[in-house]
Amino acid sequence: MVQLSLSLLLTSLGVASAGSLIRSRQANMTTPKSLVVGAAGQILTFTYDGKTFTETSKVAEPGRAASWMVFKEPNQLFAVDENSNLTRLFHVEGGKVAPTPVAAVNGSAGVVSLEFTADKKHLVGTSYGAGTVDVWDVSVADSLKLFKQVKLEGGTIGTKPQQLQHRAHQAVLDPSGRFFAIPDLGADSVYLLDAKSFEITARVDLGPATGPRHGGFLTAGGAKPGALPTHYAVACEISNQIQLFSVADKDGKVALEHVQTVSTYGPDAPPANATTAAAGELLVASNQRDVYVSNRLSGNAGGDSVAHFVFADGKLTFRDEAPTGGLSPRMLSLAADEKTLYCANQANGPAGLVAFQRACSGTLTRIATQDYSAIAAEPNGFGPAFVREI
Ligand SMILES: *[C@@H]1O[C@H](CO)[C@@H](O)[C@H](O)[C@H]1NC(C)=O
Ligand SMILES: *[C@@H]1O[C@H](CO)[C@@H](O)[C@H](O)[C@H]1NC(C)=O
Ligand SMILES: *[C@@H]1O[C@H](CO)[C@@H](O)[C@H](O)[C@H]1NC(C)=O
Ligand SMILES: *[C@@H]1O[C@H](CO)[C@@H](O)[C@H](O)[C@H]1NC(C)=O
Repeated sequence: MVQLSLSLLLTSLGVASAGSLIRSRQANMTTPKSLVVGAAGQILTFTYDGKTFTETSKVAEPGRAASWMVFKEPNQLFAVDENSNLTRLFHVEGGKVAPTPVAAVNGSAGVVSLEFTADKKHLVGTSYGAGTVDVWDVSVADSLKLFKQVKLEGGTIGTKPQQLQHRAHQAVLDPSGRFFAIPDLGADSVYLLDAKSFEITARVDLGPATGPRHGGFLTAGGAKPGALPTHYAVACEISNQIQLFSVADKDGKVALEHVQTVSTYGPDAPPANATTAAAGELLVASNQRDVYVSNRLSGNAGGDSVAHFVFADGKLTFRDEAPTGGLSPRMLSLAADEKTLYCANQANGPAGLVAFQRACSGTLTRIATQDYSAIAAEPNGFGPAFVREI
């Protein structure tokens, strides 16, 4: 907005090189971004100026793990604690998280993701620990009220060690705001949760030993405000595949239909250790073309990586991959301008936090890292599990 009006102003003043001035200002990236980072036993904030991460605050919370957080303007930060039943609400002031939560309420055990409804009056949390979905009323500032708990049912519980029960891993709101897609890693299923009634409207089977974990929506031909997406892609932690579904309204009900299964690894770059490999995050860029998946525990000598896929003609194709400089990239997020992709390497390795520069082609180049040792607080805990601009 600001840049657009500057451009118009300069143009109307007869300045010939308005475009190039704006481009060079953008390229310099001098305005530091504020980031919130969740790690075992601590919530931290950093600034990132395009070259360096600088820690600006740290909330120590021994035994807790804020492995997912969402921000609501102007100052509310909602955080899970995957080690207990608590969902918390913190204040953020001047890019720093205030040490004491404003609210902390028990819901399901082991919640690992949070997502707002479109109006941000409700917050949906998914429990890996109990296989339930918590719906919170957050319509009143600084308050957190448990509104509803939904049990995931049906499907066949898998036999892999990380399955054995329902495990609600993530809730992602579709771009029309009509429903959430909820991968259940335990039951090899994706559930659709209506975003008004908070009732499950469908369950889709992905097949045994797939372990759907995190996903994202895609719209062929570009995002259309208010419209249903055309596709949903989900990364499967056990099979190390992306399953792609078409999304359609069938007689007033949203339905997913399987269209493609593709490895999360490139054809020439399989994991050194197929036993431990466990795909993690899946992230869709707003251009509806670039899809990023983090490949964890690959056993590769160079560490783990982020794979880049291109969505075209209704299909996903592996394009390239970028090493994260560390181990177990649990979470990926895009900067607001989408020129930077952040990554949180959760396991003990050289790099903890990572920033990749994202080219127009979608290809990633690692340009900044924060050492893992600077972030890991608990000796047997985990380092950064979550990073996002606030
Ligand atoms: C951006 O950086 C270039 C090269 O360092 C410099 O010449 C230019 O003046 C900078 N532009 C702004 C707007 O800071
Ligand atoms: C949450 O539950 C735990 C375990 O039962 C209990 O110790 C704690 O006091 C509860 N916290 C709140 C805020 O209700
Ligand atoms: C914690 O979560 C478990 C499983 O969701 C539930 O059975 C238990 O009642 C919860 N405890 C509290 C204090 O809310
Ligand atoms: C793969 O990882 C497992 C578990 O850590 C280990 O036992 C096995 O030796 C590894 N295999 C290879 C080929 O590295």
